[in-house]
Amino acid sequence: MRVNERDVKQTGLILGIESSCDETAAAVVRAGGDALSNIVASQMNLHANYGGVVPELASREHLRNVVPVVRAAMKQAQVSFDDLDAIAVTEGPGLAGALLVGITYAKALSFGLGKPLIGVNHLEGHIHAVLMEARQSGAASMELPLLALVVSGGHTHLYLANVGEEGAWSYRNVGRTVDDAAGEAYDKVAKLLGLGYPGGPWIDSLAKKGNPDAVAFRFSRIKPRGHREGGPADEVRFDFSFSGIKTAVLRYIETHGMREHVEARRRELAQHPEWGPRSEEAALLCDSETLNLIASFQHAVVGNLLRQTFAAAETFGARGIVVSGGVAANSELRRRFQAEADRRGLPIAFPSVALSTDNAAMIAAAAWPKFVTGKFAPDTLGATPQLRLG
Ligand code: KG4
Ligand code: ZN
Repeated sequence: MRVNERDVKQTGLILGIESSCDETAAAVVRAGGDALSNIVASQMNLHANYGGVVPELASREHLRNVVPVVRAAMKQAQVSFDDLDAIAVTEGPGLAGALLVGITYAKALSFGLGKPLIGVNHLEGHIHAVLMEARQSGAASMELPLLALVVSGGHTHLYLANVGEEGAWSYRNVGRTVDDAAGEAYDKVAKLLGLGYPGGPWIDSLAKKGNPDAVAFRFSRIKPRGHREGGPADEVRFDFSFSGIKTAVLRYIETHGMREHVEARRRELAQHPEWGPRSEEAALLCDSETLNLIASFQHAVVGNLLRQTFAAAETFGARGIVVSGGVAANSELRRRFQAEADRRGLPIAFPSVALSTDNAAMIAAAAWPKFVTGKFAPDTLGATPQLRLG
């Protein structure tokens, strides 16, 4: 079966709402493939002052933003509430208080309008962001099963995704991080080096100026899950661990006497919030030892993601690869994944930068197959912070 729902495409208009972390987002998508609007109110600047997302602040901002963001999405799409076929909302995983703002609002809308409510797993949304864009761009449809790497500040997951007889998607988790997410490692290492938040764009940009082979980082092999949790001993898994490399960077900074240099950079950047990740001024604050460390860190992380992803694709006979989540914006990741996929003759798809970070178009897109197969949420839908996929 092919990833192509055009045959069942009607006029299905779904309003998607997303509030799982630090972005309040709403979008109207037609039949899972045509984004008529996509509005995102980011709280990044608010949380940047704290070096990470502060849950209480996030909930408060979602409360402030959800109504105007939904209104803006409806306006941009030029549709009325009556035109909608369903309301879709992220039910997890994410921050409980943040999720509840979107869910409560979506439930009220669904009840008030008499339209069905659809609960969507945020991670499933990230996968469908890529599939939606692949369809929109008219790219050849991807063959199933797909191997999806969802890699962000909160997640590093590998899923084998397929579509069943009735058109419903199924996901099997074949890899996850046992500690930090890859994006979290980027954020923590950037912080250790006195760089800004979120760390990904800083490291991505500065890595281009360093030698990726200067420092050798090693990843230990993670035991298959079955061995760790009493599961089947022969279960093949492709799990990740990123906390070790963070500690290795910290140790490197200490053993190479870089601490003062780091603190000087932290002070300079605090005084110049206008110097972004790509600014020449920011690069000038890093000596070659720092740039080499940054380039080596990124090279090691991307290499690890690449090896696990392609090994899993081979083991499970995946016929295409999808990469999504905030870290999918990384330039080295895109370049090396594309090259490896080309070498193996495997189709690969990445989201545009706009759809790689959290948004609601991906939630409305993922809701479409559920709408078609009648998988609606009960009135009792609640937030599930640890919701799993597959
Ligand atoms: O998907 P996302 O917006 O939010 C969630 O975590 O759900 O991902 C944010 C993460 C952050 O950790 C950020 O540092 C990382 O994505 N990120 C990047 C890049 N841009 C954002 N990591 C590496 N390279 C990038 N260019
Ligand atoms: Zn996300």
